[in-house]
Amino acid sequence: MKKIVILISGRGSNMRAIIEAKLPYKICGVFSNNPDAEGISHAKHAGIETCVIDHRDYPDRVSYDEALGESIETLNPDLIVLAGFMRILTPGIINRFSNRIINIHPSIIPAFTGLNTHNRALATGVRVHGCTVHFVTPDLDEGPIIAQAALQIKSDDTPQTLSKRVLALEHKILPKTITWILEGLCSLSDGQVSLDPKIFDDSFYIQR
Ligand code: GAR
Repeated sequence: MKKIVILISGRGSNMRAIIEAKLPYKICGVFSNNPDAEGISHAKHAGIETCVIDHRDYPDRVSYDEALGESIETLNPDLIVLAGFMRILTPGIINRFSNRIINIHPSIIPAFTGLNTHNRALATGVRVHGCTVHFVTPDLDEGPIIAQAALQIKSDDTPQTLSKRVLALEHKILPKTITWILEGLCSLSDGQVSLDPKIFDDSFYIQR
């Protein structure tokens, strides 16, 4: 059975969506940089191996990522999913697991990379907003796009309502994307994602 590792920093609702999707893969570990991450106790309850590696115990990003990489490597996962992992990874760990790390980001990339995406979408006045799953490269929140989901911003949306609505879309596209990759329907080569024609139409979801 193929194996996935999930990295979180907080609430872990995307991790829960993956668990609840009951995909035919083993979640062999949930890692967090934050000892207080809510998602960790949920993973434990679900019987999943957890591992906290606190970034504050390391002098810099490179040594942190080295320790994280060592620990992940012992599990030999087919895919590493950043599901609300709020740390920038250094090229060392990204290259170590080359083409095997994906991230979910709460915006339609390339718009609004970084933090506070919902506030910025509202402040900018865009009419469409959403989320993206992409392969991880050394560039923050960028990298070859696998799937996106979009919604129309309503006139009475606030950062909170938008966050909730986008999160519901995140929970839909992340488990799907994992399946595509592990079933060989989606691959990455020379920085380009190829999607099997069977799933191409599914890679952009619009909520009406
Ligand atoms: C999600 O909205 C995810 O897209 C975002 O953090 C939230 C985590 O929620 N990730 C990023 O902003 C990464 N740049 P969760 O812990 O409930 O899954």
